[in-house]
Parts: sequence; C-alpha cells; structure tokens
Amino acid sequence: MTDIVSSTILSEIQLRLLCHDDIDTVKLLCGDWFPIEYPDSWYRDITSNKKFFSLAATYKGGIVGMIVAEIKSRSKVHKEDGDILASSFPIETQVAYILSLGVVKDFRKHGIGSLLLESLKDHISTTAQDHCKAIYLHVLTTNSTAIHFYENRDFKQHHYLPYYYSIRGVLKDGFTYVLYINGGHPPWTIFDYLQHIGSTLVNLRPCSIPQRIYRQAQNLIRSFLPWPGISAKGGIEYSRAM
Ligand SMILES: CC(C)(COP(=O)(O)OP(=O)(O)OC[C@H]1O[C@@H](n2cnc3c(N)ncnc32)[C@H](O)[C@@H]1OP(=O)(O)O)[C@@H](O)C(=O)NCCC(=O)NCCS
Repeated sequence: MTDIVSSTILSEIQLRLLCHDDIDTVKLLCGDWFPIEYPDSWYRDITSNKKFFSLAATYKGGIVGMIVAEIKSRSKVHKEDGDILASSFPIETQVAYILSLGVVKDFRKHGIGSLLLESLKDHISTTAQDHCKAIYLHVLTTNSTAIHFYENRDFKQHHYLPYYYSIRGVLKDGFTYVLYINGGHPPWTIFDYLQHIGSTLVNLRPCSIPQRIYRQAQNLIRSFLPWPGISAKGGIEYSRAM
C-alpha cells in the first residue's frame, strides 16, 4: 500500500464526522492501532453520541485516520487527573479529552495526525470559545511515537500513571499529557510562586523607588514655597521676573 501514498497526499485528504455506518471500519482500525479492546458500546457511542467530536480523515472515500474527543466541564475530568487545572478556575471551566487519535500506518508522517489535532482545536475554538482551558489525553509510557508527536506539539507530561492500562491481563503504565490553551494552567508550585514574586519585584524596579520618593518630596516642597519653580532636575529655577 505504501507505493500508492504520494507525497502530496495531504491535499487529497477530506474530513467528515464519523457516523453509525463507520462502526465496522473503525473497529478494524482501532484493533490495528491500539492494544486495548473497546466494548461495542464504545464504538456505538463515539459514532452517534453528539457529546463526542469524532472526525474521520478520508482518502478516496476510505477512512485513513480519526480523532475522537469530548469537551466536558472540569468536574467530569478523570479522578486521577483532577489537578489538571488550578483550583482557581471555576467548576464550569471546560477541558477537552482526546479518547483516540490514529492514522493508518502507510499514511503516517504525511501530516494527517497534525491535521486532525488542528481540526479539534478549531472545533474547540468555535464551540467552547475560550472557556476550554486544556486538551489532555492518556498514552502508554512505551508509545514513544505518540509521545514524540504530542511533545512536539507542546503537550506536557502531567502525570505518571503506574499500572494504568490492563492489556490482555497485563498491567502497563501510562502518562497524562496536557496542552494548556486560553490561559489555562495547572496548580501553582512553590517554584511558580517564587518566580511570580521575582518577576513582580523586577517590574516594580526597586531602584526607581528612591527617585519617585525624591520627586514627590520636591513637588510637596514646591507647593509650600512662596515663589514658583523648582526645576524638574532638582535645582531651584528662579522666575524670570526676578
Ligand atoms: C501518533 C500518530 C497519530 C501521528 O500521526 P501522523 O499522521 O503520523 O502525524 P503527522 O504526520 O502529522 O506527524 C508525524 C511526524 O511526521 C512529520 N511529517 C508530516 N508530514 C511529513 C512529510 N510530508 N514528510 C516527512 N515528515 C512529515 C511531522 O513533522 C511529524 O514529525 P514531528 O512530530 O517530529 O514534527 C500516528 O503515529 C499513529 O496513528 N500512531 C498509532 C496510534 C497511536 O499511538 N495514537 C496515539 C494514542 S494516544
């Protein structure tokens, strides 16, 4: 199949939402991409429940990639990821969870994964506007291709999740990766507080404080003097009338 994938493939990719008729194809693709078995209800859900943003990338009519995500309020975030956002964000603040992102092997490294991720971001900015503060996902710690893909797109590792996945009865570790958008951020650490205090002090420009006090004192003295004019540079400026 590799020889039919031209270098200009991205220009021939079309995007459309998944529908019920795609279930069998999506099952086959996920079986190929992921070592996890999903129940049939999961496939029904992602192809018909409107709460999911399920987008397919097609080439000559066939599905060659897909992304499935859910935009939800931060109160519905997985328990283990409850600290994705700082507690200062209201409970109705939204986050987007990527349930699935995959591209058919022969079509990888042509920009389709990036196109699907960008389409999710566009969807977030039209539906949730700036209320959505983070995009997050789980990935196997051994999935270095996906980790590289996300890290190159500014996702940051947030949690190490030991024994998070059960794959054919074997427990495997996972990571949570997060991309902060629209001013979203995690809870502040002691280093963030120290950095904030540091930058606030720098912005205050402590060396300028004595100058400011001196200038204010000058203005005060000027207001008490019987004759006008103390020059801005500090010396007494005698009135020309004298
Ligand atoms: C992770 C995955 C979705 C990426 O999909 P993809 O279509 O290969 O992604 P892209 O083509 O957009 O980007 C992959 C790399 O190819 C590069 N690339 C894109 N177009 C290219 C081109 N025309 N020529 C050469 N390289 C290209 C990109 O720059 C990128 O490299 P970078 O990350 O170093 O910048 C894909 O590897 C996959 O399906 N993996 C299996 C399923 C999986 O693990 N999913 C993630 C679960 S969390």
